[in-house]
Amino acid sequence: MQDVVAKSTERRFLKPFSGEAINPPPVWLMRQAGRYLPEYRATRKEAGSFLDLCYNPSLAAEVTLQPIRRYGFDASILFSDILVVPDALGQRVTFAEGEGPRLDPIREVAGLARLSLTNTGEKFGRVCETVSRLRQDLPRETTLIGFCGAPWTVATYMVEGRGSTDQGEARGWAYRDPAGFAQLIDILTEASIVYLTEQIKAGADVIQIFDSWAGSLAENQFQQWVVLPTARIVNALKSAYPHVPVIGFPRGAASQLAHFVEGTNVDGVSCDTSCPLGVMQMVAARGVVAQGNLDPLLLVAGGEALDRRVDEILDAMHGRRFVFNLGHGIVPETAPEHVAQLVERVRRSR
Ligand code: CP3
Repeated sequence: MQDVVAKSTERRFLKPFSGEAINPPPVWLMRQAGRYLPEYRATRKEAGSFLDLCYNPSLAAEVTLQPIRRYGFDASILFSDILVVPDALGQRVTFAEGEGPRLDPIREVAGLARLSLTNTGEKFGRVCETVSRLRQDLPRETTLIGFCGAPWTVATYMVEGRGSTDQGEARGWAYRDPAGFAQLIDILTEASIVYLTEQIKAGADVIQIFDSWAGSLAENQFQQWVVLPTARIVNALKSAYPHVPVIGFPRGAASQLAHFVEGTNVDGVSCDTSCPLGVMQMVAARGVVAQGNLDPLLLVAGGEALDRRVDEILDAMHGRRFVFNLGHGIVPETAPEHVAQLVERVRRSR
């Protein structure tokens, strides 16, 4: 037990979460494993479909480790996808090449009969096998982040059947039949608690909850479908694992961040690119770690523009509880050398 504590206190990533602002700040990047890396593209080919890769512990662990070998990030995020949860619940998910996810949509309460939490064991088990392998294979100073999608964002894919620009079908169901839509959110909340608990048991040190479409909701709907379900997940995890930090990522919701922080009990907030640095400072001043928020397109552009913005973010967050990251995931067009440039810039800052 003592050994476990000693190891975890060596992890730089965790310091801002115990109230210690460090310079340079910890750094990792959303989608740090992915198509911008040639070695990812090679493993992806070997795996077959994208979901086959997610459910293959040996290959999923391999692609998780690839960016750690290249860049030595302070944190490694489990390679998987937020749509593993609906897939495991029984709503089959496919990824059409170059087109993104496809699901047979559920648009009313009757469709929920297709879903069952008792069926999730096998698929969740495979993902957790990846987590245990990673905890063995990662350098001991590297923090391992487990994750899931937030109930609202996962629900939007289940209801729309694909990615959408306005989440109109899901918002429509929530207005038309709030009690029915709440049943879907409840199923996802329960499944997320089970899934994240298993990830923690398998060795995840930190949890991040991705709510990519949080920004499309009106204030009262944000409270109901984002804040309350997230709070339920966070509090369930905290009651069993009080030392595991939880990071929320309510993308597009900078104007509601104070409310999000207060209502959910998260330990950290990942801030998207449009979030003002002043709002990130406000988050940190409340004793919550702010993470973010470099534009992923600056990582495509590289050069001086990248350096300048990295410096601005570092200056604004200097001496505060902060983790350097992007405002959203790395895009496939990114040159791997630009990632190296970014990491070096952050690591050389004082
Ligand atoms: O960050 C990481 O490196 C960990 C792995 C990870 C992936 N997806 C891998 C992935 C994580 C944390 C996610 C989260 C995820 N997945 C979100 C939330 C964050 C966000 O981006 O808003 C969402 C909405 C999804 C759903 C999803 N998965 C979509 C819409 C797509 C298609 C878009 C695309 O980039 O192709 C995916 C596929 C996906 N998930 C890929 C990767 C590396 C690309 C698939 C491939 O290799 O062909």
